[in-house]
Amino acid sequence: MSPQMILAGNWKMNGLTAALDEVALLVASTADMASDVRIVICPPTTLLSRVSDLLNPAGMASGGQNCHIATKGAHTGDISAQMLKDAGASYVIIGHSERRMDHGETDGRVRTKAELAISEGLVPIICVGETLAERENGVAITVVEHQLSGSVPAADKGANIVIAYEPVWAIGTGRVPTNADIADMHKAIRTWLVGHYGSAGGEVSILYGGSLKPENADEILAVENVNGGLVGGASLKAEDFSRIIASGQRVQTIRRAAAT
Ligand code: 13P
Repeated sequence: MSPQMILAGNWKMNGLTAALDEVALLVASTADMASDVRIVICPPTTLLSRVSDLLNPAGMASGGQNCHIATKGAHTGDISAQMLKDAGASYVIIGHSERRMDHGETDGRVRTKAELAISEGLVPIICVGETLAERENGVAITVVEHQLSGSVPAADKGANIVIAYEPVWAIGTGRVPTNADIADMHKAIRTWLVGHYGSAGGEVSILYGGSLKPENADEILAVENVNGGLVGGASLKAEDFSRIIASGQRVQTIRRAAAT
């Protein structure tokens, strides 16, 4: 089986009740697209159950943006994988660079969270990506391979994960790597996954994230080993996100035709 095309919106710390209108609009505007694309929205936790109520009946999915390393207990202000699941989530973003930076999340913690998420029935979207200095020093691929080695669950936990490659310098900046650089990185990630999981590593979706917009989605999503996107700013408006989803659908149609 080839990897699923996934377009996941990461709303970060954005969205009040009025943003639910955008979710309803998204559901309406993607209703008659072919369903080759898995559509996911990861809203702030305050909106998660209401977003789930809108998305799940439409065959779309919701996700959390983080979870704790424990299932429950005395951790004021935190949220567990079990709670996200209970609120209707199917996915959880783990190890986003903003959390790695703001909350000192190490690879080891990312792995622990991802393993817990899997055991609670969530699919972890594990984020990796280099800084600008690392890219300029020519060590981007080495850095990402190192993050994968530390962050991805042990192979015996199963390969039901998603990887998001998000170069830190491309997030919210309007800058994106060249298609060749994206292709090289995604190929390296694919090779690592196959080394880790065997053939199941060939089925893991590898998403690109960082200034993915309606204007560049056709091009980026068509790059080999790119199986979707993790979209920040452009996922907040239904109109923008549905245009990106339409790009994913076009790419998937072409890939399907080429595979038969
Ligand atoms: P932008 O799409 O706003 O650059 O954010 C990307 C991101 O961090 C998604 O997780």
